Amino acid sequence: MNILVIDDEDGLRRSLCAYLEDLGYDTLDADNGKAGLEAMRKVLPDLAAVIVDLNMPVLDGYGFLQGARAEAPELPIIVLSGVGVVDDALQAVRLGASDFLTKPLHNLSILDHTLGKVMEKARLIRENKEYQTNLEQLVRQRTAELERTRRQIMHRLSRAAEYKDNETGHHVIRVGEIAAVLAKALGLDEASCANLRDCAPLHDIGKIGIPDEVLLKPGKLDPVEWKIMQQHCMFGCEILGPLTSKEEAHSSCENWSAKDPDGNELLDLARILALLHHERWDGSGYPFGLKAEAIPLEARIVAVIDTYDALASERPYKKAFPEEKCLEIIRESSGSHFDPQVVEAFFENTDIIRSIRIKWSD
Ligand code: C2E
Ligand code: SIN
Ligand code: SIN
Ligand code: FE
Ligand code: FE
Repeated sequence: MNILVIDDEDGLRRSLCAYLEDLGYDTLDADNGKAGLEAMRKVLPDLAAVIVDLNMPVLDGYGFLQGARAEAPELPIIVLSGVGVVDDALQAVRLGASDFLTKPLHNLSILDHTLGKVMEKARLIRENKEYQTNLEQLVRQRTAELERTRRQIMHRLSRAAEYKDNETGHHVIRVGEIAAVLAKALGLDEASCANLRDCAPLHDIGKIGIPDEVLLKPGKLDPVEWKIMQQHCMFGCEILGPLTSKEEAHSSCENWSAKDPDGNELLDLARILALLHHERWDGSGYPFGLKAEAIPLEARIVAVIDTYDALASERPYKKAFPEEKCLEIIRESSGSHFDPQVVEAFFENTDIIRSIRIKWSD
């Protein structure tokens, strides 16, 4: 461990160094503040403490303190000041001195004691800092883990949504990926886009509750079957709603803008998307017949993409349509089924949308 001694009195400097070496320290010395700063820089990572005189030529102790504090905020620095100049010592402490001793030093053991004190304090500060940094890192790590787990669960759950009528599960991934692209194009912030990407895949989770005879029917649904099919929105909302009771889960559909009691914003968004992805811009959709901006933007986005992806995919009741036909239907439905702004964003991003469909093809 190095101790740097800075004093312009050669005799004192030498005897301080000799004393410190007897105590087992390695010493460096300088006879003014400027040379002291240079010596400090050379050994800084291994420098345990500095002892510095105040009155010196070239650069005095105050100048050294200012320079040293800028470069080494935690370094223990003990100031040596003349007798009866308490103001000087106070000024030095204000500039960041860790402690001060008055000259002459009749008994050098006071130096040993003071050194021990300031070095112990520096050690505690360093340890505390390390502890805090570790703690912060741990919290960051755990938060990221929690976040990842939440998103993973949303993804895995979304697989259940299309397990029966769309076995690869890629439809829901495509809907999520494309939804995030449109959300970004429509000016949503990064967090909202990420949330949408993770929640949009759950929009059809309620299909779990639809009997296979209806869901997997190869042909057109009759009016009774169609009524049953439409319930998948409510079912989805209830599945994602509060766990307290079925009644509360059900009422979370009527009060769909109320927050999740557990404060999980991903569940809030997923629930709203499950409930409202079949609403239509002109008010002719289900389950409520909400109109235009009364439908949350995220649900308006998912409506366009869900339809586009369903059109372009094979379903138990339909063949896949060629891309041109799918685009034509989307374009024609702007202003009736769909929010015109979302359709516009869709057509500005057809290249990205195509590449996502290729990446996640069935
Ligand atoms: P899905 O298969 O995921 O379709 C999602 C949405 O894509 C449909 O919502 C509709 O808006 C659009 N879409 C799908 N195919 C066509 C089509 O051939 N032409 C047009 N113009 N749009 C289409 P929608 O209509 O509310 O249906 C919701 C769900 O109900 C569908 O989800 C599907 O699971 C089921 N479904 C709808 N029609 C039939 C049908 O004729 N037979 C059977 N078995 N199921 C149907
Ligand atoms: C149906 O009435 O069978 C469904 C109509 C549609 O696909 O929108
Ligand atoms: C529905 O139309 O399916 C349900 C609407 C409601 O619960 O108010
Ligand atoms: Fe749906
Ligand atoms: Fe869908």
